[in-house]
Amino acid sequence: MIIDGLTQTAIQQAALRLKRGDLVVIPTETVYGLAADASQPLAVEKIFHCKKRPHSNPLIVHIADVSQLTDWAVAIPLVAYQLAERFWPGPLTLILHKAPSVSDLITAGQATVALRIPAHPVAQQVLRAFGGGLAAPSANRFTEVSPTLAAHVALDEEVLILDGGPAQVGIESTIVDCSGEHVAILRPGMLSADMISEVVGYEVFYQQALEIKRPGQHWLHYSPKAEVVLCDAETVNHMMPLADTGFIVYSVMISTDACIHLSAEPDAYAQGLYAALHTLDKRYSRIVVELPPQIATWYAVHERLRKAAGL
Ligand code: TXA
Ligand code: MG
Repeated sequence: MIIDGLTQTAIQQAALRLKRGDLVVIPTETVYGLAADASQPLAVEKIFHCKKRPHSNPLIVHIADVSQLTDWAVAIPLVAYQLAERFWPGPLTLILHKAPSVSDLITAGQATVALRIPAHPVAQQVLRAFGGGLAAPSANRFTEVSPTLAAHVALDEEVLILDGGPAQVGIESTIVDCSGEHVAILRPGMLSADMISEVVGYEVFYQQALEIKRPGQHWLHYSPKAEVVLCDAETVNHMMPLADTGFIVYSVMISTDACIHLSAEPDAYAQGLYAALHTLDKRYSRIVVELPPQIATWYAVHERLRKAAGL
């Protein structure tokens, strides 16, 4: 059931359900999240069941305020506070050493925990009314495209969904590991390596580790049901029009119903990407995407597109 998330009754109802151990879908500025009380293992277990997510994939705990960090993490380095100060609330997730009380269900048995303070006003208000930490992965079934609108949320169970409008960032948070000797990026997002490096004081790299530490490893992560094909502009031009095929472009100028034009600017492109995939996935068995420029500001978008294409 979708209700307007911006009312006090919606916030109170969500907080009450979460305290009772139920799931609630909440809007965040990155993507919609499927939230449960992070301190109740039975509630957290419902997330895995509802999403059909393997238990080997750990969850992010969302909190309202930096003062709550010490409820979930220990031995927090100064650099984590510096990143928090600069980017929270916002699309940043920090990996820190976990506090002993954090359940293995959340961390997948690892010694670290992922934490984020979301900026979306509805997420903020729910977190404040609720009072604790909320485990919340993206509110899609495992391997499917994350929802950036309440209407995108497709789960196998009936869950209360708070509508907070279109997600402003549009792709998942940048995950920054602060638990090791050097800060590293485990998942690219719209906060780029340059932005993180500037705060950290040295060059931070995207980590290509093989262990389960690296999130979103599943080869069809973020995938629509349709086949996704990445092509340059010229190839896209030659392919149009093709029955059964939808197109996502940013420079190619074609106007047909089958074609969704996104911005030539990476932030606005990212904001619209998942909605475009959701829309075309309903109508076509193939989605051809014009490859955006191969430059640093598009890194996170490229990563999502490669995953969508199964590359
Ligand atoms: O923007 C976001 O981060 C959204 C919104 C809802 O906050 N959430 C999200 O959650 O993308 P999810 O579960 O779809 O992705 C979280 C990723 C997973 O791929 C998981 O592997 C990684 O975070 N993760 C969680 N805990 C970790 C840990 N201790 N070490 C390394 N990676 C971790
Ligand atoms: Mg996800």
